Amino acid sequence: MTSPLRGVARVPGDKSVGHRALMIGALCDGVVEISGLGTGHDNRATERILRQLGVLVERDGTQARVHGVGLLGLRAPDGPLDCGNSGTTMRLMLGILAGQPFEVSLVGDQSLSARPMGRVLRPLMDMGLEVLETGAGERAPLRVRGRRPLTSMVYESPIASAQVKSAVLLAGLYAQGETRVIEPGLSRDHTERMLDYLGPDLEAKPIDVPGDLSSAAFLLGAALLTPGSDVRIEGVGTNPTRTGFLDVLEAMGASVERRDGRSANGEPRADLIVTHGVLRAAQIGGDLSLRSLDELPLVATLASQAHGTTLISDAAELRVKESDRITRTCAMLESFGVPVQERPDGMLIHGDPDRTLRPGHVDARGDHRIAMCGALMSMVAPEGTTWQGAQSVTSSFPGFVETLRRLGAEIAL
Ligand code: S3P
Repeated sequence: MTSPLRGVARVPGDKSVGHRALMIGALCDGVVEISGLGTGHDNRATERILRQLGVLVERDGTQARVHGVGLLGLRAPDGPLDCGNSGTTMRLMLGILAGQPFEVSLVGDQSLSARPMGRVLRPLMDMGLEVLETGAGERAPLRVRGRRPLTSMVYESPIASAQVKSAVLLAGLYAQGETRVIEPGLSRDHTERMLDYLGPDLEAKPIDVPGDLSSAAFLLGAALLTPGSDVRIEGVGTNPTRTGFLDVLEAMGASVERRDGRSANGEPRADLIVTHGVLRAAQIGGDLSLRSLDELPLVATLASQAHGTTLISDAAELRVKESDRITRTCAMLESFGVPVQERPDGMLIHGDPDRTLRPGHVDARGDHRIAMCGALMSMVAPEGTTWQGAQSVTSSFPGFVETLRRLGAEIAL
């Protein structure tokens, strides 16, 4: 067992807000100053692609100056756009590219090339995007040609997906008339908030990216697993479409306090204070699953150290993330000696804080969140955990291990 985590920490800028700040900033007329931007590989992929499309992006650590070219100013790239591991980059860029009168190829890594793109391509095709080529099953690599103007539409999305919603809304900037998206549940609304903040003329205004709650979640989790911990995480985004994880923690009996609430560019943020406490099992489904979806592998990890059996349901979307996160999370927890049952839309985790664990095996290839869950399990398990793909952490949280160590954690990764 590691020593208590104590002190003050910060986490990288919110990945979702970062992508939107870069992309929408590029469509403004003038220079958009972005502060607090994440330095992970995913935001970097978006930045690189915008440069290929003729946008000057000056980067100095977490500061960026995006020299927006206006709605009609993007140029045809000289080669394929490499989205790396980032689904948000590929799906949101497709929305913007739908409105560009040139042909573009988009590629991604092995994980991204296995993820469904039809959910974005179909509505965009209805608006006028020409899809020239796809990999098997409407997956990357893709070759598309946009046009201008696009046809506006009211899109009734069968899934609550912020990426689908955002792609259609961004394409809507190039359509005549009003574009609307109706979704079966409210997915994260960063795109709407940013468009609202910049106004109908996309005025070049400064954007401050809040800390990423999805990264902060792992520090909260580490503190909750370690007796004696008391940690403050500064400036974390608390957009209500993202705070489902905090509600789950409350249901599990954890104490997380929000202090100094404030807001910038339409995105609320606060400091989060967490103290260690005993966790109990919870039932997580419906809207709560949707609002904590990215954090559900972490919820399962924490549930393994809670009293009682936790059921996670209504989370089939987890199977098409950076990996099949239901199968991968179950395999990871089982390897540490935790009894779990995989279900089509979730998992059942038999928790016991007093169980004797064994060193596990973490297959984190292509999936940063599985890597961080494995790291937390390795903190409470005996030494000797083996790893594949631990470096995937850098997609969203470069400095993850260093941040934990600075707080006092003993962690081998
Ligand atoms: C994201 C939306 C979510 C989330 C992903 C980031 C975004 O995916 O899982 O990590 O920035 O829009 P879906 O839109 O597919 O639900």
